[in-house]
Amino acid sequence: MSDDRYDLVVIGGGPGGYVAAIRAAQHGLKVACVEKRATLGGTCLNVGCIPSKALLHASEVYDSALNHMADLGVKATGVKLDLKTMMGAKDKTVEDLTNGIAFLFKKNKIDHIEGTGSLKDKNTVSVKPSKGKAKTITADNIIIATGSDVASLPGIKIDEKVVVSSTGALALPKVPKHLLVIGGGVIGLELGSVWKRLGAKVTVVEYLDRLIPGMDLDIAKNFARILKKQGFDIHLSSKVVGVKTSKTGAKVDVEPAKGGDAKTFDCDVVLMAVGRTPYTEGLGLDKVGVETDDRGRIKVGADFSSSVTNIYAIGDVIEGPMLAHKAEDEGVAAADNIAGLTGHVNHDVIPGVIYTMPEVACVGKNEEDLKEAGIAYNVGKFPFTANSRAKANHQTDGFVKVLADKETDRVLGVHIIGADAGNMIAEAALAMEFGASSEDIAMTCHAHPTETEAMKEAAMAAYAKPIHM
Ligand code: NAI
Repeated sequence: MSDDRYDLVVIGGGPGGYVAAIRAAQHGLKVACVEKRATLGGTCLNVGCIPSKALLHASEVYDSALNHMADLGVKATGVKLDLKTMMGAKDKTVEDLTNGIAFLFKKNKIDHIEGTGSLKDKNTVSVKPSKGKAKTITADNIIIATGSDVASLPGIKIDEKVVVSSTGALALPKVPKHLLVIGGGVIGLELGSVWKRLGAKVTVVEYLDRLIPGMDLDIAKNFARILKKQGFDIHLSSKVVGVKTSKTGAKVDVEPAKGGDAKTFDCDVVLMAVGRTPYTEGLGLDKVGVETDDRGRIKVGADFSSSVTNIYAIGDVIEGPMLAHKAEDEGVAAADNIAGLTGHVNHDVIPGVIYTMPEVACVGKNEEDLKEAGIAYNVGKFPFTANSRAKANHQTDGFVKVLADKETDRVLGVHIIGADAGNMIAEAALAMEFGASSEDIAMTCHAHPTETEAMKEAAMAAYAKPIHM
């Protein structure tokens, strides 16, 4: 095989693409990964999941030292924010992790080809580096894993200074006095939490009559109540109709979603967090006949192959939640299929987590989904106020909710709001993969004292009665 000919070329080195490349190389395929950033890891590692979690953790430690530790008998005086060091620690985490992927590429003999990839024909990828001439590489198979890009609102320009996307919000040079967040979804509430804890006033403007659309409504209402208690100024059923920026800040006009009188908010920074769109611009999909749907997502079958059978697509460019772990699993499955194995992803069991305090986590169907589908179900709920570990940790906000089929008791969905919800949801996902009933979860011994006992008790509540309530 010539140097420029590969069994597989992956376009995009994010969590979907780099994982697919490694899996395919583990199967013995000759693999290249085309990535326009100098570092691998995509949005998630460079400007998404990882830096945001680094700041969420650091800001939580700061907030705890300022506001909560004294309740536990730990008195700290002179607690100060050193934003530069906090940002440096975040950047170092990102650097270490992206270097880690570069190491894995070397170990698995994967070529990282730096540049922007596009399809010339169904077996040829053109790569345009940031400097110099484009070159072409050929491949038997191609995986498109180009991810997604920030969406904005008409007439509002993201300058990453006054009007920022998540990227700018992860690197603000100082704590804004007033941060106005457009969109009460995952990014808005996570990054809103970071800057709130670091001292900003945070206003959230959400178009719908609820936060975190798509997640269980009961959880969303509780979450809104807790965030308000933390000091978030939340405006539901409201739309931003204009943003006027100056050197020092912005005036944001907000109207009721159904129309009416506008209010103007003065703020230093506006965070645009109204969703993301699949990133397929300039890929040349039309030229080679790769079909997309009405939302610009690449259409794929269960094996992740597109309308051009040797071209696959995974992650944010196809249907489904835009989540790193969903992309990773699809990357593994697509690589397995290309290697002649049977790769599969169960899209009914993809957990979702919001890393605020408390965290919010879900897997499977929520109550609204079940009502809409006409499925009869039992609800088992257990609050963290009745969980001994949560009580000992002074982290009693939230509850676990298990939804199980009324007839068969099979678990259909689990929804958690609580300090450790992100870790706890793994148990529910595993249970659902094995087709567990709520009784199966309840009959499984859970260590005491842990927050996971709230899962056991909620499962008990779904088919019988919990012990501690
Ligand atoms: P999102 O879809 O979670 O939330 C966007 C919010 O903006 C929605 O509540 C929507 O109703 C609202 N909205 C839309 N248009 C609006 C308007 N004109 N005015 C006011 N509100 C409006 O999108 P987000 O937060 O931007 O995140 C993008 C993607 O990144 C999501 O798919 C998310 O799942 C993913 N992500 C996941 C994370 C995680 O798993 N922890 C962390 C960060 C992002």
